[in-house]
Amino acid sequence: MWWLLIPIAYLVGTFPSAMWVARANGVDIRQVGSGNPGASNVTRVLGWKRGIWVFVLDAAKGAVAAGAGLLIDGRVAGYVLGAAAIVGHVFPIWTRFRGGKGVATGAGVFIVISPLVILALAVIWLAVSRLTKKASLASIIGIVLLPVGVGVVRQEWWEVFATIGLCLLVMARHLGNIRRLIGRREHALT
Ligand code: G3P
Repeated sequence: MWWLLIPIAYLVGTFPSAMWVARANGVDIRQVGSGNPGASNVTRVLGWKRGIWVFVLDAAKGAVAAGAGLLIDGRVAGYVLGAAAIVGHVFPIWTRFRGGKGVATGAGVFIVISPLVILALAVIWLAVSRLTKKASLASIIGIVLLPVGVGVVRQEWWEVFATIGLCLLVMARHLGNIRRLIGRREHALT
């Protein structure tokens, strides 16, 4: 019966952390920086402190959804409810299905599902974004490495394929970033 929670996990994912934190600081996050309602753009426009707040809130959505699934019925439920939260974040019903890119919410899902992998990727993300000032490049490297990490740590094919599926969704949301990176027009993080 855990699948009855899928719509609730989706709705949890739709909570617009970046929009609210930015609005509380007098900013419409869709109109500034990259225009993306996410932790990176809030960091870019309003600084690290507020960016970290958005990251924590967005990650919490994924962690709560995946954690509930894991506790109630194990790993399949964890993946499915976590995926519903990511879909909610990326395609929120409240803003004509135009949401964020799913990196922070995805990190929240996988901190529950495979914490060691996310801790390692967090170090890589911070190093790449600090060196290059490109949050998207750090995220893209993380998206590519996540299924590899899950495969090494978990050694379950279905988990690797489920992770690849979620990574493809998040990667698809970075197509604009990839174009800007290639054209050397990508926005700097700070
Ligand atoms: O987490 C989103 C990040 O990968 C890219 O964000 O604002 O640089 O498009 P942004």
